[in-house]
Amino acid sequence: MALISLKSLGVTMSAPLFSNLDLTIGSGDRLGIVAANGRGKSTLLKCLTGEMEPTSGEITRTRGLRVGHVEQSVPPDLLDRTFHQVVADALPPDQADSEMWRVDVALDSLDVPEPMRDRPMQALSGGWQRLALVARVWVTDPDILLLDEPTNHLDLARISQLEAWLDALPREVPVVIASHDRAFLDAATNRTLFLRAEQSPVFALPYSRARQALDEADASTARKFERDMKVAQQLRKQAAKLNNIGINSGSDLLTVKTKQLRERAERLEDAANPAHREKSAGAIKLANRGTHAKVLITLDDAAVETPDGMVLFRTGKRHICQGDRIVLLGRNGVGKSRFVTMIRKAIVEPDTVQNVKVTPSTVLGYSDQALAGINGDDTPLSMISRRYDVGEQRARSLLAGAGVVIEMQEKKIGVLSGGQKARLMMLALRLADPNFYLLDEPTNHLDIGGQEALEAELLTHQASCVLASHDRSFIRAVGNRFWLIDKRKLTEVEDPEGFFREVAAAGGWKAKDGHLQAGM
Ligand SMILES: Nc1ncnc2c1ncn2[C@@H]1O[C@H](COP(=O)(O)OP(=O)(O)OP(=O)(O)O)[C@@H](O)[C@H]1O
Ligand SMILES: [Mg+2]
Repeated sequence: MALISLKSLGVTMSAPLFSNLDLTIGSGDRLGIVAANGRGKSTLLKCLTGEMEPTSGEITRTRGLRVGHVEQSVPPDLLDRTFHQVVADALPPDQADSEMWRVDVALDSLDVPEPMRDRPMQALSGGWQRLALVARVWVTDPDILLLDEPTNHLDLARISQLEAWLDALPREVPVVIASHDRAFLDAATNRTLFLRAEQSPVFALPYSRARQALDEADASTARKFERDMKVAQQLRKQAAKLNNIGINSGSDLLTVKTKQLRERAERLEDAANPAHREKSAGAIKLANRGTHAKVLITLDDAAVETPDGMVLFRTGKRHICQGDRIVLLGRNGVGKSRFVTMIRKAIVEPDTVQNVKVTPSTVLGYSDQALAGINGDDTPLSMISRRYDVGEQRARSLLAGAGVVIEMQEKKIGVLSGGQKARLMMLALRLADPNFYLLDEPTNHLDIGGQEALEAELLTHQASCVLASHDRSFIRAVGNRFWLIDKRKLTEVEDPEGFFREVAAAGGWKAKDGHLQAGM
């Protein structure tokens, strides 16, 4: 049964994001929405909830439909509430007492440990925050679930858990997922919508197979277009020939024939659809100013602590050297982000962190999980031209190159899409011209092209970096040293595979077909 129907739906910002979208979403649907950064995935989800009005077309929802929407980022007003409160507050006030059991059931079904439930959101890792948002929506007993980039910030174990949780949901509750995570889309969806400005194709297939079908459909459109244009060109040539003969011989018949040929050519040209061309979502470029120092940072068994002073783990004695691309491995919440924060503090406030020594020529490029380095109320243009001495003209062209179009450059950063914000952050990093990068989950929000570009830049510039990431293919492509945080200790390991396997095997998860699936 259709719960939501879209008819000729379209949203135009400075240019059309999507148009003429006809789609029904009903029971059994597990729909993936795929498109590059800034193409309107989050916007479409907001239209489905009713939070945003489309520019054209109609949305019909069944009467009284409860739509559950897990947003792409954590609403700031939730940050000082506890995990439990955030979920409980989602219950309608008249059900707060009688339905409180739902909160515990939701937290149990997501395996949230007891001590985690009373922590304020801002003290939770990005992964736990994400699960809190999922639980918060789930207790409202929605008839349809919309998930915006649900795997951002989640570690591998949590991603497989989310997959299993979605799989166990009643089939009559459709789930719509906007995501850049290919493996997750393959495991969690059975239909795929490729969101495009003109025509958005939908396939009754999960991502990888839908992608193949899409490539074939695009190739066949391209071939047909070429064929039609060739025929039109031949018709025009013939018409020109006949026209000449007609003029020389004064034949009316030939003039009519010429006209007919031209009209046929025109009709063919009008009806021909050129193949879809994917516009770039902007370039990602990094810089590396280099340094003569071989060792950048020395750790002398430093203690990594929670904000309230509890020791999470000790680092042991280690050096971070030029050319090292160190990946931090560890489950959600072991202290990867706290470690990154500690190194940052040691660089920007020298001599404030015990047992961490930083070489003075170190210049930091830092991006945190929540992109806190950019202020949503600022505009991209003022941020770039104020922070870096580049002048307005250059700032404008740098921004355009990074995917922030002219019309968006003087709007608030807050209205940019998640991926566009991440790309703006990458531009800021490049302009800081660092020789050491600290990156916490840098691929969150980036589309597939963006992830590959970031990999290539880190390698080309032989950037020295420490990074935390949950993205297996990114870790494999970029890392040349691997530091595993486990059981309150940091140890160096040869490669990340053992950690990947361990996560897959833990808690009854078993690896199958390259994905992680719930065991018996
Ligand atoms: N006021 C505005 N004027 C013009 N364009 C706008 C305005 N507000 C938002 N936009 C643009 O609308 C688009 C909204 O995209 P949306 O957030 O839906 O993208 P998305 O596909 O979810 O991207 P991501 O993968 O980065 O999350 C962006 O390109 C954004 O720059
Ligand atoms: Mg989005």
